[in-house]
Amino acid sequence: MSPVTVSRAIGLLAAEGRVVSRPGTGTFVARPAAGAGEAADLSWQTVALGDRVVDDRPVSALLTAPPDGVVPLTGGYLPPSLRPDKQLAAAAVRAVRGADAWAMPPLNGVAGLRRWFAAQAGGDVTAADALIVSGGQAGLTHTFRTLAAPGTPVLVETPTYPGALAAVKAAGLRAVAVPMDRDGVRPDLLAEAFAVTGARVFFCQPTCQNPTGATLTPDRRRQVLEVARAAGAFVVEDDFARFLTEHPPPTMVSMDAHGTVVYVGSLTKILAPSMRVGAVIARGPAARRLRASQLVESFFVARPLQETALEFVGSPAWRRHLAAVHAELDVRRQALVTALAARLPEATPHLVPAGGMHLWLRLPAETDEDALVEAAKRNGVLVSPGRIYYPSEPPGPRIRVTHVAATHLGELAEGVRRLAQALADVT
Ligand SMILES: Cc1ncc(COP(=O)(O)O)c(C=O)c1O
Repeated sequence: MSPVTVSRAIGLLAAEGRVVSRPGTGTFVARPAAGAGEAADLSWQTVALGDRVVDDRPVSALLTAPPDGVVPLTGGYLPPSLRPDKQLAAAAVRAVRGADAWAMPPLNGVAGLRRWFAAQAGGDVTAADALIVSGGQAGLTHTFRTLAAPGTPVLVETPTYPGALAAVKAAGLRAVAVPMDRDGVRPDLLAEAFAVTGARVFFCQPTCQNPTGATLTPDRRRQVLEVARAAGAFVVEDDFARFLTEHPPPTMVSMDAHGTVVYVGSLTKILAPSMRVGAVIARGPAARRLRASQLVESFFVARPLQETALEFVGSPAWRRHLAAVHAELDVRRQALVTALAARLPEATPHLVPAGGMHLWLRLPAETDEDALVEAAKRNGVLVSPGRIYYPSEPPGPRIRVTHVAATHLGELAEGVRRLAQALADVT
């Protein structure tokens, strides 16, 4: 070995604490610290912590990478092949060149980015209504914490995004299910749920809902706003899929003149999971509380990330990227639908969504959903069990399959083949 390699190796070992260098004497194997190797007794922490457990399972399942060779029909972010990594890197370089790149940003977020999110939300939303947050999940957490007092109910579409259910629970709130059909939440049942529970918050994903893919019709959007307004309640509009469909309908916040809607948007789904930049749009005292909540918890989103997002969405790369993702998602969705119809006719898609990444599948009533998900895993394909999308008893066996995470169409077809085999194994 060359002396350079040896000294690098010694440097590494010293950094890991395995050797100590004594100038003038030499380098020696470090003596283990007293007690090293024995497991410390941490049982005192159990007493100190009490029972305020935060259930992270729904969220960690969403964020865990599949093992090698396993086909992911799970996951909600673009795969490396669709991520605009190069253009993001170029945007990041431009962003950090600015003189104030590492300085404190305006506390509500960089002005240009707030203007951009306001324009995406549409209607008469202005930059002053927008607060930049660290992605949609942070926006939801702030929103639930801020809008409802612990112990109170929050109405949710059922089924719904498990990360929202986890955030509701972590805020000490109770999720109460409101049924949907193919056009989104049922306004008549929403009105009834407000009356029965006295809830003051309704969580809703009106566009390409996760997991069903349903999009609330414009008529229904108006009705939902009327029902919420009559109940003196907020509507939390989670617009996570706005950029995953070519022709998204107008947002609910753009139709709202009364401060009813608190809107949550994010760039992670269309760009990259680490582009943790989103916006919460609200008006009145709710907006002031949301700002206070973020300031107290984490001050603000790091300026270089905000500036990078702004650079990217202001560049020609943004439009090109949108067009490429829309085209690819359409192809993948159609390929998944076709493969399912050919190999797994027992699983009926709830609907074929106009955008987004998922299909929601109804299974024959006698299917053991857990057994199927486990058998699928053994067969080398991951799917999401339906029950995690329900705050209460599921109506029957369901799974969610995603077409975005597979590396190519061949892998998608192979995933469906393995899933069909798994269903045959458990029935
Ligand atoms: C419906 C929905 N809302 C919000 C989020 C949060 O996404 P992010 O925090 O990456 O913006 C997700 C992520 O899966 C989601 O599916």
